[in-house]
Amino acid sequence: MNPSLLTREALAQFAAESRGTFEAELKTLVEIPSISADPARQGDVRRCAEAARSLFERHGGKAEILETSGNPFIHGWFGEDPSQPTITVYNHMDVQPANEPEWLADPFTFVVEGDTYKGRGSTDDKGPAVTALFGALAARRAGVPLNIHFLWELEEEIGSPSFEGGLNRHKDRLRTDAIVVSDTVWITRGKPSTPAGLRGLKGFRLTLETADHDLHSGVVGGAARNPLSELIKVVAEMMDGETGKVKIPGFYDDVVKPSKQELEEWERSGFSVATFKKDHMITGMRTEDPLKVMKRVWGRPTMEVHGVVGGYTGPGIKSAVPPRAEVKLSCRLVPDMDEHKTIGLIRAFVKERFPDVQFHEEHGLAPFKGHVTGPYAQAIKDAYQFAFNAPCCFTREGGSIGAVKTMEDILGCQVFFLGLSLPSHGYHAPNENYDWEQASGGMAAFAHYFETVSGFRH
Ligand code: BES
Ligand code: MN
Ligand code: MN
Repeated sequence: MNPSLLTREALAQFAAESRGTFEAELKTLVEIPSISADPARQGDVRRCAEAARSLFERHGGKAEILETSGNPFIHGWFGEDPSQPTITVYNHMDVQPANEPEWLADPFTFVVEGDTYKGRGSTDDKGPAVTALFGALAARRAGVPLNIHFLWELEEEIGSPSFEGGLNRHKDRLRTDAIVVSDTVWITRGKPSTPAGLRGLKGFRLTLETADHDLHSGVVGGAARNPLSELIKVVAEMMDGETGKVKIPGFYDDVVKPSKQELEEWERSGFSVATFKKDHMITGMRTEDPLKVMKRVWGRPTMEVHGVVGGYTGPGIKSAVPPRAEVKLSCRLVPDMDEHKTIGLIRAFVKERFPDVQFHEEHGLAPFKGHVTGPYAQAIKDAYQFAFNAPCCFTREGGSIGAVKTMEDILGCQVFFLGLSLPSHGYHAPNENYDWEQASGGMAAFAHYFETVSGFRH
């Protein structure tokens, strides 16, 4: 190992020299619209897997596309010395759809504007993925004695439906000492944070049909049932739309309160409501109290209405009684809630009161409780301090990453998080972006992390 190639200065120089290549590689990936939710993009998803495989190979690694019953995943690696420890970095290469009208440029044309990179997937999660790869290249160049593996999923944004099966099929070649995920966001720029937990997610839909076609509300209105107003009533009985409080008995029973120590860490995290609102461009909040905001996003479950389908939506009014309606909802779940128990409570509540409302369950993701102590957790903190010259806090994430718990269960090792995205990068938002400060610092953070963990017994 050559430690002089691993100083902060040497890694800054490595990043500067690599910038052109980094941008070209990221451009190639961002310009492939690997939208997992869109069946018409299946070819692009496959093309993205192939581009990722050749990316590893171009940089001297080995790579293979591993098949699952759904989208494949990419396994890339540098080093296979059984006497050395192995670390696996997880990212996802699939992206959200990008049809929001607010995009200022084509979402699948990679735009470099000074230090900012724009495009769908630039921060979620292709930018952090390529950053980690360059961190690995820096570590390998310095001779860090570590096998560095990569697992890039192509189904994360649809809840990882085939990941568990795929991992079981290929687990023998994926043995690793620990996993580090780079798919999370900081508190804000300059304030790194790493999650001690992720929320789970359970989607469901309610549908109701009370007629065959639009009815005249003057002719039958008052006597005929209205499925749209009935579903609105169901929602109102399940939750308070203004406060967000869920009214279903037992819903909060298994929620573990954040510990005193955890709350103290959150208070120290540098979280500010003003910055939160600015970064996410939020205009309406349910509370302006910082601790309450943190608790609501990181530590409490939610029920959210995502969409209401039905009735007339053209200009003006069509005075019809609609024949059918649908409401799309989901709950975010926190430790120690169980997705099956929770959806059972909701289903029973709805069925008892509104027997002819149809209840449709969607795929679910379990909440995740992370690890905040031990050498791997400390190595994450050290990596941030080293690269960004700022302390890192253990907070939690309100979002969900389906693969995390699955990897712990099947590969039998712990998962940690070395995220690089910022709230202002706009996960899932129009004009999603990433930047060179996070990328160049991220390369140094990953290189330092690899150096540290290469010294762990395995
Ligand atoms: N990277 C996010 C998860 C995330 C969000 C982490 C916010 C930290 C903060 C991931 O790509 C994501 O968007 N997950 C989805 C999963 C869903 C579509 C099944 C989510 O959380 O909604
Ligand atoms: Mn992501
Ligand atoms: Mn996402």
